[in-house]
Amino acid sequence: MVKHMSLKLRIIQRFQAAIARAFGEEFMPIDPVIKPTPRADLGDFQANFAMGLAKQLQLNPREVATRTLEKLQSEDLFSRVEIAGPGFINVFLKAEFLNEQLDQLLADPRGGVGRQEPQTVVIDYGSPNVAKEMHVGHLRSTIIGDSIARVLTLLGHEVIRQNHLGDWGTQFGMLIQEILDTNASQKPATNMAQLNSLYQAAKQHYDNDPDFAKRARERVVLLQGGDQETVSIWKKLVTESQQYFNQIYQRLHVLLTDADIKSESAYNPMLPGIVSELLSSGLATHSEGAIVVFLEGFKDKDENPTPMIIQKSDGGHLYATTDLAAAKYRLKTLKATRLIYVIDSRQSQHMAMLFAAVHKQGWVNPSVQLEHASFGSILGPDRKPFKTRSGETIKLVDLLDEAEQRAAAILSEKKTDLPTELQKSIVHTISTGAIKYSDLCSERVKDYIFDWDRMLSFDGNSAPYLLNAYVRIQAIFRKAEAQGLSLPQTGSVQLKDAIEHQLGLKLLAFPDIVELVAKELAPHHLCHYLCELATCFHSFYEHCPILKPEAHLERDSRLLLCSITAKILQQGLDLLGIQTIDRM
Ligand code: ARG
Repeated sequence: MVKHMSLKLRIIQRFQAAIARAFGEEFMPIDPVIKPTPRADLGDFQANFAMGLAKQLQLNPREVATRTLEKLQSEDLFSRVEIAGPGFINVFLKAEFLNEQLDQLLADPRGGVGRQEPQTVVIDYGSPNVAKEMHVGHLRSTIIGDSIARVLTLLGHEVIRQNHLGDWGTQFGMLIQEILDTNASQKPATNMAQLNSLYQAAKQHYDNDPDFAKRARERVVLLQGGDQETVSIWKKLVTESQQYFNQIYQRLHVLLTDADIKSESAYNPMLPGIVSELLSSGLATHSEGAIVVFLEGFKDKDENPTPMIIQKSDGGHLYATTDLAAAKYRLKTLKATRLIYVIDSRQSQHMAMLFAAVHKQGWVNPSVQLEHASFGSILGPDRKPFKTRSGETIKLVDLLDEAEQRAAAILSEKKTDLPTELQKSIVHTISTGAIKYSDLCSERVKDYIFDWDRMLSFDGNSAPYLLNAYVRIQAIFRKAEAQGLSLPQTGSVQLKDAIEHQLGLKLLAFPDIVELVAKELAPHHLCHYLCELATCFHSFYEHCPILKPEAHLERDSRLLLCSITAKILQQGLDLLGIQTIDRM
């Protein structure tokens, strides 16, 4: 059994124990502020608690540091500890200790990642709209949500994915009416591109032809009333769209399947009950024929309270009503203890009002976390929302196609003699990986500029750069085998060189990064970590000959470091939803 306690956590515990022995149990669990050092000559980690604690104790920080070190029991972990500057403590780890930790990491299929106290986490992500092309905003929700789902699953949580498909609303009245008007005999023969133009035509008619608009509104009533012809056209639209979304999900290599779909229409039966529940609790009130919820703190720019409308004067329900029903279902039926919505930041106000209403209505106990994992927009090179040259929103498929073409062009310069099929799958992995990575590596809440050159570059913070490190390791293994060397499966790592030491430390930091991603719902931390790991590996590769050493212990140790690096790269990329390749 491999014990899961990260390197950093071990150091934290030793310092906590020492602080408690030096100053009393009441300081337990103080945060000893353990950080990697900025420079290798200052040691491996720094403990920066002394300044803060000194203030509390009204002592000199160096004295606090000295008294802590007197009580520190760490001969097995640290080779040296020294006080620097006003009271920083620099920690040098023992090579033997790191060697042992790395041996354990090699044997651990979880990459050193432990299991957390399990929660039931419901993640709302993807959530495209029926009869509409997925656009780049849905791309972000899909891949950020997917990465969060993977990370939380690895940490031992029960993750329930919810694809809140937009399959309901007044727009279906106009769509179905358009289909009936134009194509009455054969009913819809649709694919997604046709659907898109159908949508545009319907909108055009709706806006300019009052008679059509009237029929479209009546069509909504027919749909809601379950009229057979109307419902059957609607169902076709939903099925066709789902097939199309599934193709994209497969192409993107995300986890979403049909089983994760819980679409807006699925909540219809709940809506009248939600409205009456909110009315009888007093949270909702009648206002100008509609039913609305007023929540404290939500005001427009003229300081007038902003209502959350849950029922229109014609009796129709809205996006917010459905979201209230969905939240109740997730909390009460699915028993979520953490509820995450991966939705763009333009819906922040809607989400904040939803959370406030859910709390007020008492559907959620205080220990449950409701989180809007909001994200920024993808911008074009002109820093404006990313559009085609003619100003239309960019379709996700077009983006994926272009990525493949560009990746293929770059790889063709490399003149490989790999079979065509293999080349194709390499191009696919690199291109989808590049798009996903460039999205995930920018801080979620920020906008970012879509940049083909940067995302496909082989040296930089990009998927090709990371994949290249992985491929290089596989090439080393192939070379070793060709030389008749058997690859060590187990054995012992022997860190000698300072660069090996740095690589070892980086590898052992993986579990902390995974936990940080889960806490902040921020995959960019993992991207930056993997990029640094790849950089550490490349410099190890350049400075420490791997197959050269005559002494087979040294060679084996370096091969083991390669194995662990490959494993962590693979596992880390997998958490981002990016596959690896063995050659390119
Ligand atoms: N379908 C919506 C859109 O495209 C996103 C739905 C997000 N999820 C939710 N529970 N509101 O904007």
